Amino acid sequence: MKYFNYKMDKQGIATLRFDTPKSTVNIFTSEAMREFDELLDMLYHDKDIKALFIESSKEGIFIAGADIHEIKQADNKKQIDAYVKNGQDLFTKLENVPFPTIAMIDGVCLGGGLEMSLACSYRIATTNSHTRIGLPEVKLGILPGFGGTQRLYKLVGYAKAIELIVGSKLLRGEKALKLGLVDACVPRGYLEFKKEEFGQEIVDGILDAKIQAKRKGLLWYEKIAPVRTVITKMAKKQVLAKTAGHYPAPLSVIDVMYESYGKSLEEGLKIEREAVGLLALTPISKNLIELFFISEILKKESFSKAKAKEIQQSSIVGTGTMGSGIAWALNNQDIDVRLKVRSSESAAKAVVKIRNIYEGIKKRGRLSERAVALKMDKITSATEYVGFQNCDFLLEAVNEDSALKQKIYAEFEEVLKEDAIIASNTSSISISNLAKGLKHPHRFVGMHFFNPVERMPLVEIIAGDKTDDETIATVVKLSKQMGKTPIKVKESAGFLVNRILLPYLKEATLMFEEGGDIKMIDKTLLDFGMPMGAFALIDTVGVDIGAKVSVILHEAYGERMQESLLMNEMVGKKWLGKKMQKGFYDYGSKKPTLNLEITTLQKGSTALDKETVLHRSLLIMINEATRCLEEDVVANARYLDMAMVMGTGFPAFRGGLLRYADTIGVDKIIKILNQLRAAYGDRFTPSHLLLDMAQKEMTFYGGAS
Ligand code: COA
Repeated sequence: MKYFNYKMDKQGIATLRFDTPKSTVNIFTSEAMREFDELLDMLYHDKDIKALFIESSKEGIFIAGADIHEIKQADNKKQIDAYVKNGQDLFTKLENVPFPTIAMIDGVCLGGGLEMSLACSYRIATTNSHTRIGLPEVKLGILPGFGGTQRLYKLVGYAKAIELIVGSKLLRGEKALKLGLVDACVPRGYLEFKKEEFGQEIVDGILDAKIQAKRKGLLWYEKIAPVRTVITKMAKKQVLAKTAGHYPAPLSVIDVMYESYGKSLEEGLKIEREAVGLLALTPISKNLIELFFISEILKKESFSKAKAKEIQQSSIVGTGTMGSGIAWALNNQDIDVRLKVRSSESAAKAVVKIRNIYEGIKKRGRLSERAVALKMDKITSATEYVGFQNCDFLLEAVNEDSALKQKIYAEFEEVLKEDAIIASNTSSISISNLAKGLKHPHRFVGMHFFNPVERMPLVEIIAGDKTDDETIATVVKLSKQMGKTPIKVKESAGFLVNRILLPYLKEATLMFEEGGDIKMIDKTLLDFGMPMGAFALIDTVGVDIGAKVSVILHEAYGERMQESLLMNEMVGKKWLGKKMQKGFYDYGSKKPTLNLEITTLQKGSTALDKETVLHRSLLIMINEATRCLEEDVVANARYLDMAMVMGTGFPAFRGGLLRYADTIGVDKIIKILNQLRAAYGDRFTPSHLLLDMAQKEMTFYGGAS
């Protein structure tokens, strides 16, 4: 046997250990499933077996699901149908063996791993933090196809099962026990004792009655058909509100569960199988799976050959929205945070901001009041430069004012250790310029977080010309520790994300000035899948910020990124967006309405069609993205796409900006860019990279066009 080890003791208690050779994880590849299948056939006839425990030999991993590579590669209905049927039949076989089976869940138990566990008679989980149980298939654009939609609700109830699958929720052992998903939950060290206890009770014939008495299953009202109809409708409404219908998988989960309810397992599995068949072949699923693999690569990416240092004590200077958010992200990882503030009032304000983020988490039941209090104890503040001598890391998040920032660095250099890292959260100022005047510029680096810090996963890591490798390695590691995805970008005005995003926002303002309709443009972008329209985004970021960045980008990139005169005019009128209740929209009432005076700033009256809006908005970004690749601002198209998805909310179902570009094709992009250039100006001139790619018939994601 290659994947499983098998043994049985004198009492007839058998143990099957999943132990994929030369791998840190256990995955149900077709080969592993075949071996499992053969084993079940063999064990089925063994009359001596009293119980079969299924365990894993991997540290922190029980089973990480079916093989996502195989799902990605499937390219026809017959193939995917056979693949899913194979998994379904296997777990039905497991469910029907003539002895009790017990999944011993210590570590990650996802997708096919949980579906196997659901087919077992009982499940025991550990309380360890690495134990995470769930069906995350919806995140990959598919649904649990090995019986997950058919078996889960029988344990946790109809509404809960929909919630768990649709939300791709991962549960800790204790929560899984509370919901009835597992039958016992013990600390890891007690797993063997629990196993012995279960084994003995099975031998004594008392376990099943005990467990059945505790199981929750469907709530009484969920058995009433009209109630289920209401639950189903509500669940769909919630999904549509969240996804605007761009993601078919969560809706399909709800349909499958509704339709198959009350039917035989065989019929239910058929319905489930057909739904997976439809979903797995969609470009949406292929795109989401591609993004999953990019995120797996980024998890391992260190962007440096040097060894990272440990950060135990940190300090923050500049405790506005960003500084407080970053302080929270550090403190949440139990890293000491010392705030350098101008006054005790600003310290109090920052503490309230940090506390508010924790309150949100507490409300969702993720942290207790005691845990929050313990964390908050690790935040201190000072108005003078005292108590910073042991800090390993300083993050500066003051106003975008070079002189102010440099003054602060000089003051901190007097009190910090020589090897403490100094990072700036600047979104627009050159890191190399900021480092001028520093005694130790090698330890200075850019760490550009996105707002709101607690929700946005991206951190752009920017090396100045003197930043050393150890500094990069350390901030990359620290960002990951903070639960973020760091992507190293080369120093260039706007770094990566804002450099691509700003031309898009600017283009929206130009379309408006020419006569375009704000609401129509925003709706077109929303329909494409953007999380909010361009004008709504400018209002959210702040028209003044947009105007300021557009000046910086104009200075750096010249003609193709003109300063926004419209935004300047709006700043003059104090129409700064949400913070002033007025920008392109008016935020005076509950629901934003159009700022009725905004049309006074319109210069022309040319109406635009949706196609032109999309072409101008998206191709200006694609063109700039290719310039970023050309200049090595980012390592590759995949990282760029991930940065845009995480930093701007570019629709994940489209796979990212350049993956979307691949669906149009480089030749067509160049053709449209040339048309746009003739109509609207040289900013649409296709980049050299695009022309080169067209000549070589290349695509962004590899392979010929
Ligand atoms: N199918 C294919 N490959 C998988 C996989 C799956 N279900 N689960 C994990 N892997 C791969 C990862 O891509 C990575 O590959 P690599 O080494 O070539 O980059 C490797 O297994 C895991 O790497 P490792 O660093 O040891 O693990 P980790 O601690 O970073 O993460 C998981 C492990 C399981 C938490 C993470 O890989 C994960 O979330 N996997 C997805 C699980 C999932 O969605 N399952 C449902 C599918 S039905």
